[in-house]
Amino acid sequence: MPAGIRELIPEDRIRSRVMELAHQIDQDYADAGEILLLGVLRGSYIFVADLSRALSINRRVDFIALSSYERDTRRAGVRLIMDTRVSIEGRHILLVEDILDTGRTLAYLLEVLAARRPASIRSCVLVRKPTQEAQVTADYVGFDIPDDWVVGYGLDFDDRFRALPFIGTLDPGALD
Ligand code: IMP
Ligand code: MG
Repeated sequence: MPAGIRELIPEDRIRSRVMELAHQIDQDYADAGEILLLGVLRGSYIFVADLSRALSINRRVDFIALSSYERDTRRAGVRLIMDTRVSIEGRHILLVEDILDTGRTLAYLLEVLAARRPASIRSCVLVRKPTQEAQVTADYVGFDIPDDWVVGYGLDFDDRFRALPFIGTLDPGALD
């Protein structure tokens, strides 16, 4: 275990929760024909990889990227810095985000993407903190977690720890 990290959600719990979410999504979209999983880079890349493989329904995968947080400060304003490759008009969009924190990011994305007339749009977040300020709810939530900084399974602190197989909490004061 790297210094300063404490395991919060072990690898096997993530794996089984991803399977549950995929099962739920398969059922909910059974009549949709095809969905487009739209991952928000970079934090969701591992979640998208696992979720997309756990699904049975027809799915495509695409990504968008936003300007990211400066380390762990909650910064106002989000900006789209990489757009989708395919057009989302007429498609069933499942937005896949790593963390629902203040909700600003998700609120912004839902507004921007809804304006492009998708057939439907829902959101799936890996973890949700109890800190929402924006009026936004996620349709699928992997785990509710406390308001601590978390890393691993794609989540970072200053671009570190993304490749840890579990989700852990970080004590920045204890880092090497
Ligand atoms: P929101 O707009 O406040 O909901 O911001 C959510 C975004 O902040 C997430 O997509 C993450 O990129 C980032 N974020 C918030 N909390 C954490 C954390 O604990 N670890 C890593 N990234 C985080
Ligand atoms: Mg993010």
